[in-house]
Amino acid sequence: MKTIQTTFQTAFEEDVYKGLTSFPKYLLSKYIYDEKGDKLFQQIMAMPEYYLTNCELNILKHHKAAIADTINKEGGFDLIELGAGDGKKTKILLQHLVEKEYDFSYLPIDISQNVLEELETSLKTEIPEVDVKIQQGTYFNILENLANLSTRRKVILFLGSNIGNLLHENAIEFLRNIQKAMNPEDMLFMGFDQKKDPQKILDAYHDPAGITEAFNKNLLVRINRELDADFNPDNFKHWETYNPESGTAKSYLVSKVSQKVTINKLGLKVNFEAWESIHTEISQKYDDAVVKWLAEESGLEIQTSFQDNDNSFKNYIFRRKN
Ligand code: AVI
Repeated sequence: MKTIQTTFQTAFEEDVYKGLTSFPKYLLSKYIYDEKGDKLFQQIMAMPEYYLTNCELNILKHHKAAIADTINKEGGFDLIELGAGDGKKTKILLQHLVEKEYDFSYLPIDISQNVLEELETSLKTEIPEVDVKIQQGTYFNILENLANLSTRRKVILFLGSNIGNLLHENAIEFLRNIQKAMNPEDMLFMGFDQKKDPQKILDAYHDPAGITEAFNKNLLVRINRELDADFNPDNFKHWETYNPESGTAKSYLVSKVSQKVTINKLGLKVNFEAWESIHTEISQKYDDAVVKWLAEESGLEIQTSFQDNDNSFKNYIFRRKN
């Protein structure tokens, strides 16, 4: 199965090679998000089964006044959003901050310049009072510059339970990097999807319309296109599990048949036994104890939190612990 290929031109090539030559096989979920993957994720967020988006939207709608009161202090602040996307949820808060005439600037950060420009344009018509300065880059690049990016008190937003796509150890590393960029008065406002009825979680990640399946299989489609491979996505089944003990939802692509796939650009042939799996994504669910533990491990503490009516989703405000 392995070949002599050892040098890679991109991280994508190296990660695909490593994942598909490992046992058990895996692929990294961050590679789902190319142009098509972004569109599929937009569709997921609009599905009735994917409760996360509406829950967080409702939290922002119902608690915007309390959130704004907590984050606003004398001297104003910079609202820095990691992975801002279309800003749909954030606009609720921005509108309220403008109505209250609070002194703030909005610095949305996203990997996609296109998304940022659309957000900037939509803000100009919808909430023209907002002082917006877009920043293109990955979280990790921007995090390094976060301390230089803003001279005022910082309020960092990270919505959508995106942290759930990281294993706990990576989540702690991510939070530590944010913590290092924070001053004592700064705040971090983050969404964490909560443990709940396991069926509700499974339904959110295995919709009958097959949108999540297409999203998951976009990994194979992308490998076909970018690495000249011959995956037949129909030969794989989208499979979701949820472990209520650990709170971890896991996505897999399971090979329905015994098959051989060629990835020309990697000089690699990959054998699949019938019903062998590729692990593709984790979507971690949390409770207060786990969030408190993650915060402590990262040098942060929970200042307060806001939840929706049925306690499905929670947004926490963290401060540096010291
Ligand atoms: C981006 N992230 C928080 C989503 C999640 O819920 O894990 C990605 C996703 N995967 C399948 N559906 C949505």
